[in-house]
Amino acid sequence: MLKGSKVGLRARHEDDIPILQAELHDDVVNASRAAGGPWRPITSGSKESSFMVDDEEQGRVPFSVVELDGGTLVGAATLWGIDNHNRSAHIGLGLLPSSRGKGYGTDVVAVLCHYGFVVRGLQRLQIETLSDNAAMLRSAERNGFVREGVLRSSAWVMGEFLDEVLLGLLVQDWKPDSKG
Ligand SMILES: CC(C)(COP(=O)(O)OP(=O)(O)OC[C@H]1O[C@@H](n2cnc3c(N)ncnc32)[C@H](O)[C@@H]1OP(=O)(O)O)[C@@H](O)C(=O)NCCC(=O)NCCS
Repeated sequence: MLKGSKVGLRARHEDDIPILQAELHDDVVNASRAAGGPWRPITSGSKESSFMVDDEEQGRVPFSVVELDGGTLVGAATLWGIDNHNRSAHIGLGLLPSSRGKGYGTDVVAVLCHYGFVVRGLQRLQIETLSDNAAMLRSAERNGFVREGVLRSSAWVMGEFLDEVLLGLLVQDWKPDSKG
């Protein structure tokens, strides 16, 4: 398990999937904001679930997020789009509603940076998020990510086009222990 100060990132367990599915995917607004595609219902156990893991898929590493104190499941985090030529990847995360606003998101980003830069030897990490997602933007910026651009009206979300912000962090600018 990879450990931050409050949360750990471990492998996905089979019994995590129905919880993540119910609390993240079945919340249509949350899923529509995170997915970048049209929401539709997913049958339990379906391979279509974004929380199912394919260990053969080299470009995507899914984690379940747990509290270090007690091991309760609090969300999902992914390093995806891993490009070993350009040594870059993207970060994605979603916390269960009752686990938001406790500093876990900031900690998850810190652990994913450690995994990307130290374990995988990457040199650039990227995050795309909706421009009104203050908690995600702050979680990223607290870890040193900088806003590199705004993708205007790039996301169709529940009846309107929203802007996305693209943030990047280079390994040489990464300060593992600072959360400024
Ligand atoms: C986005 C998300 C991962 C952030 O994680 P979190 O644990 O809630 O965030 P944190 O508690 O670490 O807070 C990070 C910062 O954002 C601020 N913040 C938290 N919730 C906020 C909110 N609703 N509005 C404004 N600021 C907020 C915190 O005060 C903190 O700022 P600080 O460091 O200056 O004190 C989490 O809220 C979530 O899962 N949201 C739903 C799914 C989602 O949006 N995923 C991202 C898709 S790209």
